[in-house]
Amino acid sequence: MSKFGMTVTEHLLSQQRLHPDATGAFTVLLSELIVAAKIISKEARKSGLTDILGFTGDINVQGEAVKKLDEFANTSIIRRMSHLGQLCAMVSEESADIIEIPSKYQKGNYVLIFDPLDGSSNIDANVNIGTIFSIYKKVTPGEQVASVDVLQPGYRQVAAGYFLYGTSTMMVYTTGDGLHGFTLYPAVGEFLLSHENIRIPERGSIFSVNMGYTNYWDENVKAVVDHFTKADPEKGLPYSLRYIGSLVADFHRTLLYGGIFMYPPDRKDPKKPHGKLRLTCECAPLAMLVKQAGGMATDGERDILEIEPGEIHQRVPLYIGSAKDVKTVMEILKTERK
Ligand code: AHG
Ligand code: MN
Ligand code: MN
Repeated sequence: MSKFGMTVTEHLLSQQRLHPDATGAFTVLLSELIVAAKIISKEARKSGLTDILGFTGDINVQGEAVKKLDEFANTSIIRRMSHLGQLCAMVSEESADIIEIPSKYQKGNYVLIFDPLDGSSNIDANVNIGTIFSIYKKVTPGEQVASVDVLQPGYRQVAAGYFLYGTSTMMVYTTGDGLHGFTLYPAVGEFLLSHENIRIPERGSIFSVNMGYTNYWDENVKAVVDHFTKADPEKGLPYSLRYIGSLVADFHRTLLYGGIFMYPPDRKDPKKPHGKLRLTCECAPLAMLVKQAGGMATDGERDILEIEPGEIHQRVPLYIGSAKDVKTVMEILKTERK
């Protein structure tokens, strides 16, 4: 029986019932994260009318100018999630170090890693932006947080998802039992199930990459892009090109329509030879989601979910989307490497 229109809270509880040993801690965690997302969504929707546009004047650990909405989203999530008693630590794209839980609050067994606002360069132009999250269980005993607790490979995630602040506000998440999408019904302030058991087409007809960097790519990456742009109607080529510049929006379109999103390594910034995207707060959560939908995610050689992070802000190349399209890319990269 379809659960269409079910509230996300009801859905979380139905997922919880699948795990007899569940304590409900996880449901509390996700429910609070949803409240934070609703607050960010409300702020983003009226950002043109308040003094939330523009820059704070700070530069973050990524070396990027911080937008006011970045800062607002980051502090909203940290404030809300710190006192819950479900987390032992947090990692944010906007914070240089691991975010400790203040000693006055009870600690829990989960680690929350997040990109508070993805697509910051698009905020002032009213283009879709989002929030990406990833949740792990603490692996070391006791209250002390060790680096191995926050530097876990993506296959150990217990949940992942994103909020998309677009024409409507959506939440897409998985706890390992299928991928489900909810749409915010503003009149009642509830996320209602709108996309149950999302499956990505096994092949698409859209590729997504920043062509502006063509002259910064190696020959093997250029060979990949040549593949998707050659005229060969028999093979369904060329693909269309769509690139929004907000990973969460480019990924959401790829998930629903099929195809492939790519952020290849480039020579644009010698400090970022592996491209711009972060493994722990962007690539690993999206890799869990796409796998649940029957798709794939790779850094060009390895499954993103198998990569052991070396540090919390590690960057990796990302090729993610329909299984057949990702496999085609891996074959071309492998051939060209020879
Ligand atoms: P963030 O705003 O969290 O820093 O992420 C921006 C990322 C990602 O959303 C997008 O895919 C990518 O930046 C676009 O980068 P380019 O402008 O270099 O193409
Ligand atoms: Mn981002
Ligand atoms: Mn961000």
